[in-house]
Amino acid sequence: MDQFGFIGMGNMAKALAAGFIKNGALKADRICAYAPNQEKLKRNADEIGFIPAASLAELAQKCDTLIMACKPYQIEGVLQELCDLRAQGKSSCTVLLSVASGWDHAAYVNTLSKLHAEGSVRIQFVMPNTPAMVSEGVFLFEETTSLHEEELKQVKEMFARLGTVEILPSHLMGIGSAVSGCGPAFVDLLMEAYADAAVKYGIPRETSYRLIAQMVLGSAKLQQETGLHPGILKDQVCSPGGTTIRGVGALEENGFRHACISSIDAIMSAKK
Ligand SMILES: NC(=O)c1ccc[n+]([C@@H]2O[C@H](COP(=O)([O-])OP(=O)(O)OC[C@H]3O[C@@H](n4cnc5c(N)ncnc54)[C@H](OP(=O)(O)O)[C@@H]3O)[C@@H](O)[C@H]2O)c1
Repeated sequence: MDQFGFIGMGNMAKALAAGFIKNGALKADRICAYAPNQEKLKRNADEIGFIPAASLAELAQKCDTLIMACKPYQIEGVLQELCDLRAQGKSSCTVLLSVASGWDHAAYVNTLSKLHAEGSVRIQFVMPNTPAMVSEGVFLFEETTSLHEEELKQVKEMFARLGTVEILPSHLMGIGSAVSGCGPAFVDLLMEAYADAAVKYGIPRETSYRLIAQMVLGSAKLQQETGLHPGILKDQVCSPGGTTIRGVGALEENGFRHACISSIDAIMSAKK
């Protein structure tokens, strides 16, 4: 895999392209991208450093590895165009990485088979999340893959520069995406709620966000670095008869744990 081409250069593709370059996973001249709004694409290319392509045909001609990063509903049309280009001998693409929600390995295989192009590309579905923008992402790799071993190794190493890579069987990609993909919104809500409490008791809003963000970051890092069960870390903060345990009690009384689990239930039932 030499030349990488993003199909779409929106929020997620920008985070990945910029991260790959910044963290030394790929040199800027190995990244191309195509998006319909050419003016916006060129602005992003100037800012990030990748090479803009004037059409999907140009991208497919230049790149052996394409990264599907447009909206899920646009993918069928893009695949149709890629298959037409391939039939005309105008595509160099042999590997397709996809970061689009819901488009797992089986979905690509089904669609490509309908387009009579089964086996035309090797496919890997990767589910990213927004903290990828600050190189603290979670990248869920679907275990089912058609990439060769060496290709998979290369792709995992690239993404690992931008966060954590986890491999999940296909049937767990949905729940994995619900937790790591939607989870940042829930943590944001938690931070906003604690900032409201801090403001209620007199801490200025901006100071509240600063201290709460650092508290969340620090707590996560402490768990990661010690490997301790979150319950043990919680116990370490709760001295007997102290104030923190009262806060824990209040959260449990208000169904904190149940609220967290219900948020995931809501996502999972919407996916069905
Ligand atoms: N953002 C997230 O948090 C997140 C998390 C996980 C997965 N994802 C996945 O990442 C993908 C992109 O999401 P996003 O948030 O980055 O969306 P976005 O910001 O709306 O970007 C979509 C991109 O697709 C381009 N596009 C539209 N039609 C196209 C076509 N026919 N061919 C090629 N490119 C086309 C758009 O170009 P123009 O602007 O020029 O129209 C734009 O650059 C989605 O499939 C989503 O499921 C996103």
